[in-house]
Amino acid sequence: MSKIIGSVSTSHIPAIGGAIAKGLQQEPYWKPFFDAFPPARDWLHAAKPDVAVVVYNDHGLNFFLDKMPTFAIGAAGLYTSEDEGWGIPTVPPVQGAPDLSWAIIEQAVADEFDVTTCQEMLVDHACTVPLQLMWPAGWEGIRIVPIAINTVQHPLPSARRCLAFGRSIGQAIRAFSQDLNVVVLSTGGLSHQLEGERAGFLNPEFDDLCLNALINKPELLTRYSSHEIVELAGSQGAEILNWIVGRGILGGAAREVVRNYHIPISNTAAALQVLEPA
Ligand code: DHB
Ligand code: FE
Repeated sequence: MSKIIGSVSTSHIPAIGGAIAKGLQQEPYWKPFFDAFPPARDWLHAAKPDVAVVVYNDHGLNFFLDKMPTFAIGAAGLYTSEDEGWGIPTVPPVQGAPDLSWAIIEQAVADEFDVTTCQEMLVDHACTVPLQLMWPAGWEGIRIVPIAINTVQHPLPSARRCLAFGRSIGQAIRAFSQDLNVVVLSTGGLSHQLEGERAGFLNPEFDDLCLNALINKPELLTRYSSHEIVELAGSQGAEILNWIVGRGILGGAAREVVRNYHIPISNTAAALQVLEPA
């Protein structure tokens, strides 16, 4: 049986990868963002994870607007990073955990989620930047199961569906035959909009509501339609759906261990939240 040790949810802004590459972590612009991570890393390393289930959204690297799965689960042995156009350096490949991937896929399909299975999958900044933040010295010994949620092309899955999908994944992990420590790494958000008339839109009040609800009242977020989420959080703020899936995976009652909120980093309200089972 595997154990879900907790969840780390963080923004995945590509410029973070650029700042890491240039060693800018202590510059005044970046310090309030990066300084939140050492306590999160201390927590993570003490919990000794074997596998990270990474809930993120693909930004046109595997899936473009021509083909867009609602839920896609990686089942590869190795994941290679590529830059889909932000000009950030690529990072070393990450080992997969295909046996756990297939257990999750089996459970999800049994629970009537029609997932896309990916035995080959490239990972973009939304997967790699959080890995760099949590394992700055490298992720040797850590395996991942990447799970891509469509937060990009409408119609998006509802928050309700995302929470239920997460719960199905959590059930698969807990029932998995091997004794693994699994951390949930949810990425994206919080509020941001990169294009159009509202480019630069942020909504700290809604972000605060989300961070509070995610601790022990994730159902509160399921009352919003995906269009309402876009209105409240911005078009890319729909990435909160990744965090909602992640909260579903964690399941049960939770305790907040770390929270940071800093605006803006690039065009985004940058947030970090670590939850552990209560
Ligand atoms: C930014 C944020 C994102 O979530 C993303 O995927 C790309 C860019 C930004 O704020 O620059
Ligand atoms: Fe993004």
